[in-house]
Amino acid sequence: MRKVLLIITTCYCIQVNAQNKIVLHPDRINDTISKNIYGHFAEHLGHGIYSGFYVGDNKKIPNKDGVRVDVVEALKKLKIPVLRWPGGCFADTYHWKDGVGPKDKRPSMLNVWWGNVKEDNSFGTNEFLNMCEELGTEPYLSVNIGSGTVQDVADWVKYVNHKEGTSPMTDLREKNGRTKPWHVKFWGIGNEAWGCGGNMTAEYYANVYRQFATFMTNWNNSDRLYRIASGASDNDYHWTEVLMTNIPHNMLNAVALHHYSVIDWNKKSSATNFTEEEYFKTMQQASLMEEYVQKHSEIMDKYDPQKKVALVVDEWGGWYDVEPGTNGAFLYQQNTMRDAMIAGLTLNIFNNHCDRIRMANLAQCINVLQAVILTNDEKIILTPTYHVMEMYNVHQDAARIPLDVTTNDYKLGDKNLKAISASASRDKNGAVHITLVNIDAKNAQDVSIDIGGLHAKSVTGRILRSEKLQDYNSFDKPEKIRPSVFNEAKINGSNLSLKMPAFSLVVLELK
Ligand code: AHR
Repeated sequence: MRKVLLIITTCYCIQVNAQNKIVLHPDRINDTISKNIYGHFAEHLGHGIYSGFYVGDNKKIPNKDGVRVDVVEALKKLKIPVLRWPGGCFADTYHWKDGVGPKDKRPSMLNVWWGNVKEDNSFGTNEFLNMCEELGTEPYLSVNIGSGTVQDVADWVKYVNHKEGTSPMTDLREKNGRTKPWHVKFWGIGNEAWGCGGNMTAEYYANVYRQFATFMTNWNNSDRLYRIASGASDNDYHWTEVLMTNIPHNMLNAVALHHYSVIDWNKKSSATNFTEEEYFKTMQQASLMEEYVQKHSEIMDKYDPQKKVALVVDEWGGWYDVEPGTNGAFLYQQNTMRDAMIAGLTLNIFNNHCDRIRMANLAQCINVLQAVILTNDEKIILTPTYHVMEMYNVHQDAARIPLDVTTNDYKLGDKNLKAISASASRDKNGAVHITLVNIDAKNAQDVSIDIGGLHAKSVTGRILRSEKLQDYNSFDKPEKIRPSVFNEAKINGSNLSLKMPAFSLVVLELK
């Protein structure tokens, strides 16, 4: 008798585990997924700016005022909402006044963080802010508190935001060919202040923040500066705790967080030639974002239960060895289906925590780390990560639909991770979008979705997948990986079912 019971129990477990189950709760809609979660980051690092965005007067590559036309077109399709600049670590070495005015008069500098190469300052404030206008994106300026002065930063605010004719800085702007202010809203006060931004303690940085923030004046009363404090790395919860307690909240709009999916800082992995074990470790790192966001949010909830101060993940993404034969300080890496998995998983986490996360910036946009675009002279490739950002942009400014996910494990040896992740939203036209990722490297996963009271008549979908995890788009085969139509999702009353191939990503639209 005991034996029979055991068998019954075992069979029951197998049945339950075989299907991944998602339940949507449209009746609990409360938050909007800020479009700024789909933001990007462009640092003066390697070929991120020069030859990535900006080619100056290179006649071979079509450009407008030095900015590549192909890049602008591709980024417009992504609908990039916000772009962080000029760093990163570079920001705390950058003196903006060296990057304005006639180019032949601009002094050069050494880019000490990124290869000690010469920075000629030909791409500066005017070039960046005009480019943002062309892209239709909000600029996010990171100011230099590491080696700059309060006066420099106060002047930068005047130069870009104050009404014309009101100060020597607005006169300088006019002399440099721009009369009207750009109205920059987002301002980061330092970067990684615990590290390359000055090796400060949290307590010391909180005071520095207060000082700089005081002199970064709003340009008028209705349109205020949105000031973002340099945040913690990974699980440094003390950092967040100190910022939330030591900085008055009326001068703090957001606290940042940085987390990179890196296996081991001393032994990363090849971007393309990796084992399943390395892939699994990368997924472990990417999955940690959930825990970090959760715990930093819990601390913020203690001091700001009304969630007025946002959490801004202004650097995230995969970090591997540079491509063989390239400069080690330029952080140029290829981008595979592994990166697509990081992006899909991370964006689902951000969407599901949009009550606190109101901006995020993938590191970095072009030719650096987990880029969406790689360039090679006049050629460009759109990476698998680009396609994920494009497929997911349906969530921008849509109402988040809370959901519960019961998922199988993705197992490797005695370790396991959740195989399926998901997020869902309803856009202003009433269309519902569900984004799903199966990170399991070996197994397809059956998914059943209870859509609650949504009454959908039709379902359409797109999928991103490839034969091998290590596949990528190269300059020879730029379209090896791209989204295709996915007709496999079936709707039956309030139940939606689909089978997701191993390491694939699907977006469904219900109408
Ligand atoms: O994105 C590359 C570097 O990583 C940034 O400059 C720095 O902020 C981080 O450590």
